[in-house]
Amino acid sequence: MPLPVPDISRNLFDLSGYCSIVTGAGQGIGLALAEALAYAGSDLVLTERNAEHLEVGASKIEAIGRKVTTVACDVAADDTPDRLVKAALDLSGRIDVLINNAGLMTFADMLTVEDAVWDNIYAVNVRAPMRIMRAVLPEMVKAKRGSVINIGSSWSSRASVFNQDGGGVDYCSSKAALQSLTRAAAQDVAAKGVRVNAIAPGAVDTPMHADHRAKLFEYEKYIPLGRMQLAEDLAGTVIFLASDASGYITGQTLHVNGGLIMND
Ligand SMILES: NC(=O)c1ccc[n+]([C@@H]2O[C@H](COP(=O)([O-])OP(=O)(O)OC[C@H]3O[C@@H](n4cnc5c(N)ncnc54)[C@H](O)[C@@H]3O)[C@@H](O)[C@H]2O)c1
Repeated sequence: MPLPVPDISRNLFDLSGYCSIVTGAGQGIGLALAEALAYAGSDLVLTERNAEHLEVGASKIEAIGRKVTTVACDVAADDTPDRLVKAALDLSGRIDVLINNAGLMTFADMLTVEDAVWDNIYAVNVRAPMRIMRAVLPEMVKAKRGSVINIGSSWSSRASVFNQDGGGVDYCSSKAALQSLTRAAAQDVAAKGVRVNAIAPGAVDTPMHADHRAKLFEYEKYIPLGRMQLAEDLAGTVIFLASDASGYITGQTLHVNGGLIMND
């Protein structure tokens, strides 16, 4: 069946009746994206390793008036993908959107990076999204529709986190791998009506930067749009990519960063 043509007489951004899975949804970008999806109409499966944060997130989604279920787990654990699929099907009987957001940032140097640090960041930032996509995509293929959004980084095209200071051979390369994985996965499901894209945020003020927040704000002067990025700045793009409004976009990484890398 050919790709449906959008009906532009209705609200293409409406997510009513959708079921979305968001990983790393207990705080920061993941929580903001989950709330944005709920405001746009979607029910939610929230997953996160911190059970207390997860419950706070779930109560916010309930307050918006959507159905929600939680799965407290390590995103990299073997049984996580199957648990997420089951949770979504139990909640809504469908999976429309997957946001692979859970991620780690470390600042390793090429000369000293330890195997354990490398393996851990690749397990969370690359292997886990691949395994969750592998479990979720068959459900989307069956429905002949669905949108996966992987959260990459504008640092995927840079040599280090925080310009020229060095450090980040692990983080930068893992996000580049995730964005490449996005493109390759998109190719494999495109003919089946399913889309896979990535969002690359810039420097976002979240708990991820809690122990180097001053350094993050030193960076603000390099942001052309002139203020530090907040998690809410990603909400519109995630609704766009989740919805029929972006129905002819796949395999892309959209940079949402206040113009951070436009001079590179
Ligand atoms: N904050 C930034 O500047 C920035 C910029 C570009 C990309 N990103 C990406 O955005 C995503 C979210 O970042 P954030 O700033 O909100 O980070 P954060 O540290 O504030 O939140 C990440 C969430 O993911 C969860 N998580 C991490 N590892 C997990 C695991 N193994 N299992 C289950 N949950 C796990 C954490 O508990 C936390 O709730 C990450 O992938 C990050 O790399 C962040």
